[in-house]
Amino acid sequence: MKNLLVTGGCGFIGTGFIRYLLLNSDFKGRIINVDKITYAGNPDNLADIEKSNPERYVFKKADICDPDAITHAFKAYEIDAVCNFAAESHVDRSIVAPDAFIRTNIEGTFNLLEVSRQNSDRLVLFHHVSTDEVYGSLGSDGFFTEKTPYKPNSPYSASKAASDHLVRAYNKTYALPVTISNCSNNYGPYQFPEKLIPLMILNALEGKSLPIYGDGRNVRDWLFVEDHCRAVWEIMKGGTRGQTYNIGGRCELANIDTVTMLCGLLDEMVPKTDRTSHRDLITFIQDRPGHDLRYAIDCSKLEKELGWAPVETFETGLRKTIQWYLDNSNWVQRIKSGEYLRWVRQHYGNDE
Ligand code: NAD
Ligand code: DAU
Repeated sequence: MKNLLVTGGCGFIGTGFIRYLLLNSDFKGRIINVDKITYAGNPDNLADIEKSNPERYVFKKADICDPDAITHAFKAYEIDAVCNFAAESHVDRSIVAPDAFIRTNIEGTFNLLEVSRQNSDRLVLFHHVSTDEVYGSLGSDGFFTEKTPYKPNSPYSASKAASDHLVRAYNKTYALPVTISNCSNNYGPYQFPEKLIPLMILNALEGKSLPIYGDGRNVRDWLFVEDHCRAVWEIMKGGTRGQTYNIGGRCELANIDTVTMLCGLLDEMVPKTDRTSHRDLITFIQDRPGHDLRYAIDCSKLEKELGWAPVETFETGLRKTIQWYLDNSNWVQRIKSGEYLRWVRQHYGNDE
């Protein structure tokens, strides 16, 4: 993998992945990051990398649905591997406006696969990053394995399921060398503050209410983002081509317990001046339509075949995450005010 095309590298996990590959891993090649820079993509995240690694990091603003732009990137940078993070990723947005999810997640993945097929003489790997949500919802027991039938419940998870099927089909039909990973809920630095954990951290710091959907008993399986990024890299290097690998933290928590724990850490790290607990800010609001009850990943295939295990516990990962948001108030301010998107439009033009 000399020239790795990473899509969606300006988003939360893509940023973590590029930082991990260039700063902490044994990857020796060059990364070409193609990102459309939607509301969720932020070039600020990699500005230091762009400066310090000009030979090993290239950024191109482009849409994965654009065949000409992707073909051009393949030819200009002699792409020999792809890691596809680009997606519309937020379930609540997919309920309100599913169109972009169908376009980016399904058509965009299809376009990447087609361009990869046309350049398959050089391609050593197409890795597709996906989600445990394709498996649907668990009851109170059991785990998702790689053999669990797909049963997606939201427009987001349905669009990711469709993209997984396309990737698998390109391996079966055209022998494209692919791997797929399906991961549980991530948290950590650079996460856009619409997702549960960063939203709760920033609301709590501002003394705003902490809105929990329904009764707060829905369960998610949490994984620190850097552990996910390391798993993706291990699969890219050593995973069997044509196979799927589940990634998870073995860290199941009901949402109310997650938020309560977060409030406890905030009370310790940034105590309120009136000494009341951040827990007092918790409010229960109307449930998400079609809200999946429980996700829990069995990641024993990844552990056994590739020797991967998470490094962070939920407590160490949450502490690091809170500290990151405290230390990066400038990043938060630019996100919340929309300043970074205004900068992107001035810098790259508005192609919306
Ligand atoms: P994100 O929303 O933070 O980032 C998505 C990135 O993709 C952004 O930089 C955005 O600008 C870019 N993008 C969107 N549409 C594009 C297009 N048409 N062309 C090019 N770039 C485009 O998402 P994330 O949380 O970093 O998730 C990354 C991937 O990991 C997604 O495929 C998601 O389904 C998957 N995943 C996420 C989680 C999680 O907990 N966040 C867990 C498992 C899997
Ligand atoms: O499981 C992997 C998936 O995790 C990824 O594929 C998605 O891209 C990612 O967004 C995430 O999906 P969720 O819907 O689980 O994440 P979210 O942070 O939106 O919500 C986590 C849980 O918290 C979920 O049960 C809904 C609940 N929630 C969320 C928000 C934003 C609340 O109770 N209140 C909130 O304000």
